[in-house]
Order: sequence, then C-alpha cells, then structure tokens
Amino acid sequence: MSASSTAAVSDTTATIARPAITAVERHVRALCERHAARLQFHGWHHVSFVRDKAAEFAAGNGSDVAIVETAALVHDVNYLVRRNSTAAAGSGLRLSILAGAGVAPEAARWIDAIVDEAEMRTRHRDITREAQALSDADTLFKALPVTPVVLAHRYLAENGVSLRELANKIVGEQRDPHAEGYYFYSPAAAAAYSRWATANLELWQCIQESLDDPTVSRLLTAVA
Ligand SMILES: [Fe+2]
Repeated sequence: MSASSTAAVSDTTATIARPAITAVERHVRALCERHAARLQFHGWHHVSFVRDKAAEFAAGNGSDVAIVETAALVHDVNYLVRRNSTAAAGSGLRLSILAGAGVAPEAARWIDAIVDEAEMRTRHRDITREAQALSDADTLFKALPVTPVVLAHRYLAENGVSLRELANKIVGEQRDPHAEGYYFYSPAAAAAYSRWATANLELWQCIQESLDDPTVSRLLTAVA
C-alpha cells in the first residue's frame, strides 16, 4: 500500500462504520458457530476475546480502533479454510466477508495486511501500531495462565498436531520476541502480563524437556 493510499484509509472519513463492523461480527460469529466442532481453539470464544482486547490496545496506542476491531474479527478465518494454516490462507475468505459487509476495498486490503503483519510466526519489532494492537491481543490469549490448562488440548485436536509439535511451535515462535523485548508492544500490556508470558514460555520449555524422558512418553501413550 502506498503512503498516499495509507493516508486515505487512515482518514477518519474512511474508517469503517459501526453497521459494517456489526455485519462482519454477525458473519464471523455465524461461521464460528456453524463450524464449532472443528474450531475448538480458534472459535468464537477466541475471536471475541481478541476483538475486545485489540480494541482496548488500539485505543491505547492511537490506532484506528474500527480498523483494528474489524481486523480482529477476521484474523483467524484461515482456520475455516484450511487446518493448521497461516493467516494468508484466509485472505480470500477474509476479503469476501469484508466486501459482503460493505467495507471499502482499500480498508479491506489494509485489514488483510494488518492480519499478516501481526502473525506470531513472522512478526518483528517494527510492525505498524494497528498490527501491534492486534498482536498484543492475540499474544495475550496465548499467554493467559488458563490457556495451557483448558485450551491446549483443543489446539492439538483442531490442528492435528502432537504435544511435542505444539511445544516446539510455541517455544520456537515466542522465545525471540520474549528475549528481545517485543513480546508485547504496548507498555501497559507488558507491565500487566509479562509475568504470565514468562511463566507460559517456561512451562512450554519444561514440557519440551519432559517429552525427552521415555517414562513420560510412556505415560502420555498410556493416557492418549
Ligand atoms: Fe488468533
């Protein structure tokens, strides 16, 4: 997106009207509920949490709140398109939902770019503030103390991965942002939630270590 087009969609006259956001919400919620059986982790409970927190972080960092809120609503539709996929796999469905709700094409393309930018696997220190707000909300969901306890097994089932694969993914993706100080972009989020993030990362590193013990492996095979 060129600087001039970014300026155009950033203009307050071009932000997304509330009825369009409501239409996006209704469509995404209906899809999540229709496919709830296979969206055990990334279902409406996840999308609505990320939407609420992303809007809060967007208000805090001066982002376009309507753009961030709408991006949060469509950020994980790739899991409806293909199991265990990247955000880019959902681009077609994402743009189709936004067009159906009356979101202008330029704002829709901006949202699609924000979703790509915020992805945990590839995000970096210098992403845009809209992507930072979305990333902080999505990262917070991963770092919640309750997520490994009540939701991790749902991630395994939804995405068809093993516990070792999930542990390797979490540690592989989160270690560098955590070590280099951009796990959370918002100073308020970092202050409030860094202890949870540190504990969560330590837990998953311990899980990796435990899986190397053959007796633990036998235990997991026995309870599988
Ligand atoms: Fe997400």
